[in-house]
Amino acid sequence: MSPTASAARRPFHPPQLAPSPFPYHPGSLLSIQDLTLESLNHILTRATALTNQDPLKRDRILAKRRVALLFYESSTRTRTSFELAAKALGCDTTLVSSLSSSIEKGESLKDTGLTIRALGAEAIILRHNSSGAPWLLEECTRLPVLNAGDGMHEHPTQALLDLRTILAHVRPGVTEVNADTLAGVTVTITGDILHSRVARSNMLLLPRLGAHVLLCGPKELLPELAISEGPGVSIERDFEAALRKSRVVMMLRIQGERLAGLQLDLEEYKANYQLTGDRLRKLAPQAIVMHPGPIIRGLELTAGVADGAQSTILEQVSNGVAIRMAVVERALTAGMNGGRA
Ligand code: CP
Repeated sequence: MSPTASAARRPFHPPQLAPSPFPYHPGSLLSIQDLTLESLNHILTRATALTNQDPLKRDRILAKRRVALLFYESSTRTRTSFELAAKALGCDTTLVSSLSSSIEKGESLKDTGLTIRALGAEAIILRHNSSGAPWLLEECTRLPVLNAGDGMHEHPTQALLDLRTILAHVRPGVTEVNADTLAGVTVTITGDILHSRVARSNMLLLPRLGAHVLLCGPKELLPELAISEGPGVSIERDFEAALRKSRVVMMLRIQGERLAGLQLDLEEYKANYQLTGDRLRKLAPQAIVMHPGPIIRGLELTAGVADGAQSTILEQVSNGVAIRMAVVERALTAGMNGGRA
């Protein structure tokens, strides 16, 4: 028997990996997978309670606590909503941006994080162009780190605010989620799946609540090998077929800055995948239309659809403040009563 054949017959025992030490801090939110169902419900409940609370009482919850926003990539929604959320709870916030700090002079993420900690920050909100950067920052600083988008990897607070938006439309009145909450709901995510941290975090979250996620796009933006279809996630290349099944249509921006080297014909893309008023009226008249922003009108969707009655784009933005208040509160209070929120 050849050595190859004998190796093929040997039973495969996967290596025993030590349990992941991440997150080190119970208040961190690095991946949407960090959240148990209990934590998820805690965040959703607190988002609503904090939104409804008297602003003059709310700003005493974390009065004078220090939160740093560390942004290596541009952002409008995430940065502003995290800042407004932290301030609404009474925090002092400071922004360190890669374009106007010593990062430009070559300071490393580790040294920047340690410097921010030495300045008194109690939590860091990080957006970084490298996948995995929030894990490194947490390991170096041992502060609670909130992942505000890392490379092409994850954007957990976007998935949470998307969930809050979906629930309001698809399951109005539901205040607590479980494994069946979104049973029977098909969510189509269309566009640049390959580069999308929003798609990844939503693919990891929504099937846990019973939703079926349909990924839709051309091979250039949705290569089969890069996507693990599994329970609750499948690929549908035909956008019109996907629309017919959808209660939720999530459109993604074509990320021009990450397309170098890809052969993508934008006119062909629009012909096959642009969400137009005509397609929406005919194929998904009951669906909500979501988009994490920034939107490129006339590319992934038309201006009429972006501004239309089915669009929840600005509602998603507002939900960002609610969710991020809950996540910042969790970051600065988790573990205080011996437990993990
Ligand atoms: N959705 C989102 O992350 O938008 P920004 O890049 O503007 O923060």
